[in-house]
Amino acid sequence: ELNFFFPAEQTVAVIKPDMMDQKEEIMRSIEEAGIVIQAQKTVNLTKDEAGAFYEEHKNKEFYGDLCSYMASGESTFLVLSANNAVEKWRNIMGPTDPNEAKTSQPQSLRSKLGKDILKNGFHGSSSVEHALKSIEQIFGSSMTIRSSKSKSLMSS
Ligand code: TYD
Repeated sequence: ELNFFFPAEQTVAVIKPDMMDQKEEIMRSIEEAGIVIQAQKTVNLTKDEAGAFYEEHKNKEFYGDLCSYMASGESTFLVLSANNAVEKWRNIMGPTDPNEAKTSQPQSLRSKLGKDILKNGFHGSSSVEHALKSIEQIFGSSMTIRSSKSKSLMSS
């Protein structure tokens, strides 16, 4: 098994403010999918921190509402580790719009629990690079040291 030699991929999952009362069940279902939760941090982002987290959307018309929603209460940030973690978590989460999720991915979390395209309950990194940036912002350098060690293992 070649996979044995490669460290698992990391991604960031966020349980957004209006989903926090279901945090325990959600984390259990993540682990039941064979994903390792390497770190967790619960924080009430300021609007500015939410803005930095979603920086790539700063020119979108929904950016202000998105930042307000993310700053409206505590969220739990998770560092997930698995083979193909980015894709695996995005599949479990489902498409951005819960209404679309209900037809295309009815078993997904956003289909079952999301309210609308803004209050869709969950975040998942769109790429490994994006995951590393989010890990650094939310968890700080100790987690990225771990990530860069993994990288050097891969290239040696
Ligand atoms: P995006 O990165 O496109 O989606 P995803 O979370 O599935 O990666 O958008 C980031 C968040 O912005 C999304 O989770 C909810 C919000 N959003 C809106 O409020 N309206 C929209 O039309 C879109 C596309 C996103």
